Amino acid sequence: MVRIYSRSPEETHALGRWLGERLRPGDFVALTGDLGTGKTALSAGILAGLGVRRTGGSPTFTLLWEYEGRIPVFHWDVYRVEDPAELDDLGYEEYFFGGQGVNLVEWADRVRQLWPDEVLEIALSYGAGDRERVMAFTGSRRYRPLLEDLAHAGFGL
Ligand SMILES: Nc1ncnc2c1ncn2[C@@H]1O[C@H](COP(=O)(O)OP(=O)(O)O)[C@@H](O)[C@H]1O
Ligand SMILES: [Mg+2]
Repeated sequence: MVRIYSRSPEETHALGRWLGERLRPGDFVALTGDLGTGKTALSAGILAGLGVRRTGGSPTFTLLWEYEGRIPVFHWDVYRVEDPAELDDLGYEEYFFGGQGVNLVEWADRVRQLWPDEVLEIALSYGAGDRERVMAFTGSRRYRPLLEDLAHAGFGL
């Protein structure tokens, strides 16, 4: 596990960008943590690092925004999902297991049963003071080199 301390929204954005620059088709990034811990802020950085220029707009479904960066990006916010079966109707398997792009999932713990085997999980929490956030990165085998690089990348450890 690699634990990174962010001291500002800007640091969080920079961390996200660093990660987004390194993600590959088939990657699955699961963001967990309470409201306000910075999942959306980190996602914005990740999208920037993936080369997505315009965010927002209309979701494909109410839970999913699709973008074309340097590779396709599927940005989910499953906050309102009460039963993971709701994702069946959206054909989530095509996205999660299709290998076409990067899945970036906010509130991913709501659909933990649906996660693929290979996942990069980022658990966000509040740190000391208003602007500190703690981000605990854990990854399956696929993400080991990335986590090695992250530990040496110069973000707040
Ligand atoms: N170090 C930090 N990293 C990220 N956000 C921070 C940080 N410090 C303060 N904030 C603030 O916390 C809030 C995070 O909101 P958001 O990203 O929407 O959280 P979530 O998506 O997890 O609910 C924003 O208002 C942001 O300005
Ligand atoms: Mg959010």
